[in-house]
Amino acid sequence: MRRVLTGIQPSGHITLGNYLGAIRPLLELQNEDDVELLVFIADLHAITVPQERAKLRSNIKELAALLLACGLDLNKSHLFIQSEVPCHNQLGWVMECNSYIGELERMTQFKDKKVKQVDGVSAGLLTYPPLMAADILLYDADLVPVGEDQKQHLEITRDLATRFNNKYGETFKVPEAYILKTGARIMSLADPSKKMSKSDSNPKGYISLLDDINVAKKKIKSAVTDSDNKIKFDKDNKPGLSNLITIYSALTNKELSDIENIYQDSTYQKFKEDLANIIGDFLTNIQDKYNYYISSDNMDLILNSGRDLAYHYASRKLQKVYHKIGLGRY
Ligand code: AMP
Ligand code: TRP
Repeated sequence: MRRVLTGIQPSGHITLGNYLGAIRPLLELQNEDDVELLVFIADLHAITVPQERAKLRSNIKELAALLLACGLDLNKSHLFIQSEVPCHNQLGWVMECNSYIGELERMTQFKDKKVKQVDGVSAGLLTYPPLMAADILLYDADLVPVGEDQKQHLEITRDLATRFNNKYGETFKVPEAYILKTGARIMSLADPSKKMSKSDSNPKGYISLLDDINVAKKKIKSAVTDSDNKIKFDKDNKPGLSNLITIYSALTNKELSDIENIYQDSTYQKFKEDLANIIGDFLTNIQDKYNYYISSDNMDLILNSGRDLAYHYASRKLQKVYHKIGLGRY
């Protein structure tokens, strides 16, 4: 049995980028035999930057309903909230004590996020990767589906696991990142040199899974492209159009070259109209299911059972770790 695990922060409406980078590979793995999926809402990670209480609460609930709406199969997948399983903080501390400040300061995400914090940089922003390592190592995850931007955090997780195993004896499984070739880095629709991000101040840059369908379609139609008007995948010279072709390919499972062929005699306008409709259908389907889950009592039952199972696995691993280090009495 292979174990697949991923976390997503409840730090705003989740985007098409999150879906294509992290949720789609998860759903792909869910279809395979002999897998167990653990999916969690990384609320402890979200508070590394300031969060407003009421907003955080509603984002957690919204994300839980959205993950279910995207198609988590509860026969194979367990959904829980990170802060409800305290073993994450506990192993997180152990991982922090086995990390070096220098290696944490070198993380690209830390460097990027640090400059945006006008009211001071929290220590948690720096120690975020050892907590993420704990999230993964607690469960002996084999595969971690993530977008391209998390690759470096997966590498440090592997380093920390290996470092701990060398120091204290075989304890953790060394996990692999699972990053898809298409869709692992969806770019902003307004500025294709930037990643599509839910914290973008310009809402035209991203499509939220909960965007009004017509608004989402308009965002595609007004996406920044170029004036060449030839549908050709060329990341360097046509970054905006190539990003749209990537989205098209990921949502329809068509090869990039097939899409070029279909549209070889078409205009950008026709291509964008078709993509807008594909996105419209995709969002309608997810939003219908979202509306069901967000108002259903089932959600609490699902999150309780996810929490209990996660605690069962995590507490056993944590006990082993404490024992190996010599913490406490047992
Ligand atoms: P976050 O929103 O930072 O919690 O990211 C959740 C997951 O979505 C992570 O696996 C990210 O790598 C992935 N992700 C975020 N933004 C994008 C994007 N623009 N393209 C592809 N994957 C993304
Ligand atoms: N750091 C991830 C992000 O910002 C979220 C995350 C936290 C995560 N813990 C994880 C992802 C463990 C995969 C596995 O996107």
